[in-house]
Amino acid sequence: RGMLALLLCGVSVALPSFVRADACKNVSMQNEAPSAGQPFAFNCTYPPLTSGKVHVTWYKYPSRIPISKNTQSRIHQEQNWILFLPLTPEDSGIYQCVINSTNTCHRIHVNLTVLRKYWCDISGNGQLILSDEYKQILHAGRDDSLTCHLNFPQSCVLDSITWYKDCKEIKEGRFIRWGIKLSVSNVSAEDGGNYACQARLTHTGKHYTVLNSITVRIKTNGYAERIPKIIYPKNNSIEVQLGSALTVDCNITDTRDNTNLRCWRVNNTLVDDYYNESKRIREGSESHIPFQKHIFYTVNITFLEVKMEDYGHPFICHAGVSAAYFILKLPAPDVRAYLIGGLLALVGAAVSVTYIYNIFKIDIVLWYRSACHSPGTKEDGKLYDAYVLYPKPQGEIQSHDVDTLVLKILPEVLERQCGYKLFIFGRDEFPGQAVANVIDENIKLCRRLIIILVPESLSFDLLKNMSEEQIAVYNALIQDGMKVILIELEKVKDYTAMPESIQYIKQKHGAIQWSGDITQQSQCAKTKFWKKVRYHMPPKRLPPSSWGAGVGLVTHDGVGSMEWLTVGQGCIAFGPTT
Ligand SMILES: *[C@@H]1O[C@H](CO)[C@@H](O)[C@H](O)[C@H]1NC(C)=O
Ligand SMILES: *[C@@H]1O[C@H](CO)[C@@H](O)[C@H](O)[C@H]1NC(C)=O
Ligand SMILES: *[C@@H]1O[C@H](CO)[C@@H](O)[C@H](O)[C@H]1NC(C)=O
Ligand SMILES: *[C@@H]1O[C@H](CO)[C@@H](O)[C@H](O)[C@H]1NC(C)=O
Ligand SMILES: *[C@@H]1O[C@H](CO)[C@@H](O)[C@H](O)[C@H]1NC(C)=O
Ligand SMILES: *[C@@H]1O[C@H](CO)[C@@H](O)[C@H](O)[C@H]1NC(C)=O
Ligand SMILES: *[C@@H]1O[C@H](CO)[C@@H](O)[C@H](O)[C@H]1NC(C)=O
Ligand SMILES: *[C@@H]1O[C@H](CO)[C@@H](O)[C@H](O)[C@H]1NC(C)=O
Ligand SMILES: *[C@@H]1O[C@H](CO)[C@@H](O)[C@H](O)[C@H]1NC(C)=O
Ligand SMILES: *[C@@H]1O[C@H](CO)[C@@H](O)[C@H](O)[C@H]1NC(C)=O
Repeated sequence: RGMLALLLCGVSVALPSFVRADACKNVSMQNEAPSAGQPFAFNCTYPPLTSGKVHVTWYKYPSRIPISKNTQSRIHQEQNWILFLPLTPEDSGIYQCVINSTNTCHRIHVNLTVLRKYWCDISGNGQLILSDEYKQILHAGRDDSLTCHLNFPQSCVLDSITWYKDCKEIKEGRFIRWGIKLSVSNVSAEDGGNYACQARLTHTGKHYTVLNSITVRIKTNGYAERIPKIIYPKNNSIEVQLGSALTVDCNITDTRDNTNLRCWRVNNTLVDDYYNESKRIREGSESHIPFQKHIFYTVNITFLEVKMEDYGHPFICHAGVSAAYFILKLPAPDVRAYLIGGLLALVGAAVSVTYIYNIFKIDIVLWYRSACHSPGTKEDGKLYDAYVLYPKPQGEIQSHDVDTLVLKILPEVLERQCGYKLFIFGRDEFPGQAVANVIDENIKLCRRLIIILVPESLSFDLLKNMSEEQIAVYNALIQDGMKVILIELEKVKDYTAMPESIQYIKQKHGAIQWSGDITQQSQCAKTKFWKKVRYHMPPKRLPPSSWGAGVGLVTHDGVGSMEWLTVGQGCIAFGPTT
């Protein structure tokens, strides 16, 4: 009875924990076969169960006593990990990790089989007797890599990783140690075989040695679908200000069972090595998101400060055989601002050129004529350069002024100084000729028609000397395009009383107003008024005979203006006024 009571009591004590334990759901069973004599760790992960705030406890089946959490203990739990420092063959067995959160409980089983593995030196005869702990594949003809499996909690510091192939340390340049990876460039069939990676593990001040043996098989085909895809960068350029910080992601998708190495290089060197001193540009650590068929990797490159030397050189992201780069560029100045500025400058230039042209138009044209006009221009059958038509005003003074202008000043300047030939009514007609005929015949022989206007004589009929028929000729000539030069002796305020043709000319071409002193003896072709008149006159035609006598020489002075020096002709100057 006592026995039974004791048994019942034992059962009742054991029962609650038993029931609780059985309330947990078995979710997975994993087999692990590490080798004895070295550290081993197993992370209890079962996403998404272990992603939140959960309580993880390790047990060695069938014991119900949790594994110690004392870090000095050879076997202990650290966070979610169970850690063996180091493994002994006696540690083989089933381990359970119970993941307990508020309302769920899951259990993971790990079947641990500790093997005695022998490695080169240990076996004593240089023979490699290893179970194939890990299997990896290298792809022939490509750059590929091997990975050393070093899964330990953060409290374990791993360093001094060494790689061996068939018991010999790998030193060849085709192999590059790269973190926990070994990159192998231009893989060939001979690269297959038995590899091992060795690392030193330091935990709470104690050193251990971790050794992975890796059986490597060479695969020669079926690589095409294994080429990783670099989503970004895309051989693009990135605009960045000098001196700013920059981070660029390299985003890659790759197959699940890939062995590709992902890294950033500059000038064909790993960036961390290239900037090993300044650490100005660093590669970030890789992160990945697993999907059903592929894995999405991100590894970034960070510029603490962009310097001038970084511009224009490709920074290349490598993922296995794939590569893609970006190039830094100085930000382009605002194109629109430049365009608008350029347009404004153009418009400004055009406006000022037009403005300057309008101011100097007359000088420019006169200068051009004097510089480039050749005396032997084509014959147009005209006898005179201009016909001068002028009124006979009633007032004495006015009449005198008009006569002075027409009979003295005009011939002096236009004929004597400028070499034009004028037909002036009252001077050039043959005596006895009928007035009507004179106008009719001679006006047709002229290239220009100069009309002198006097305001106060508006009442007088400008064309009173003309018959209807002659007025018709005169109108026809104007309509024909004969150029008319209107010269106002004084400002004419009201044109309405003038013939329509005069009004039209005034509106279209304007009039030149006399300026200067009518009584002054010497008139000069260089004054503003005469320049205007000359501008409207046809290009000067000097008869060949007078050419040699009239023009002495042409000089170019240092300022670039050109002057015609005329011998014995007073003040003719065609050069632009400065
Ligand atoms: C879970 O697995 C353990 C060990 O294999 C076994 O004893 C237990 O009965 C299992 N529990 C459930 C609910 O399957
Ligand atoms: C180990 O598991 C925890 C969650 O249980 C997880 O946060 C951590 O990233 C894992 N560590 C490694 C190296 O996988
Ligand atoms: C699971 O956690 C709850 C509290 O969160 C605790 O009461 C319970 O005993 C735990 N169960 C196990 C099997 O550890
Ligand atoms: C654990 O693994 C060993 C060897 O792999 C095997 O013989 C044994 O049956 C496994 N135990 C369980 C419970 O699966
Ligand atoms: C790769 O190796 C083969 C021989 O294994 C050699 O012929 C070839 O030139 C190598 N290619 C490069 C790029 O080194
Ligand atoms: C790269 O992937 C990350 C997610 O890991 C995303 O936030 C980022 O926008 C991606 N960058 C580019 C350039 O596609
Ligand atoms: C950086 O790399 C160069 C060449 O690889 C080497 O000479 C130098 O010692 C390295 N510096 C540091 C701080 O590692
Ligand atoms: C770059 O990657 C590192 C991880 O290596 C990460 O901590 C950092 O936030 C990333 N930088 C950016 C800007 O994404
Ligand atoms: C790469 O090397 C060239 C010359 O060897 C040098 O001018 C350039 O600055 C280097 N690129 C970077 C990003 O430092
Ligand atoms: C980017 O340039 C690399 C060479 O550096 C080339 O192999 C790759 O095909 C290019 N990618 C694109 C998208 O142009």
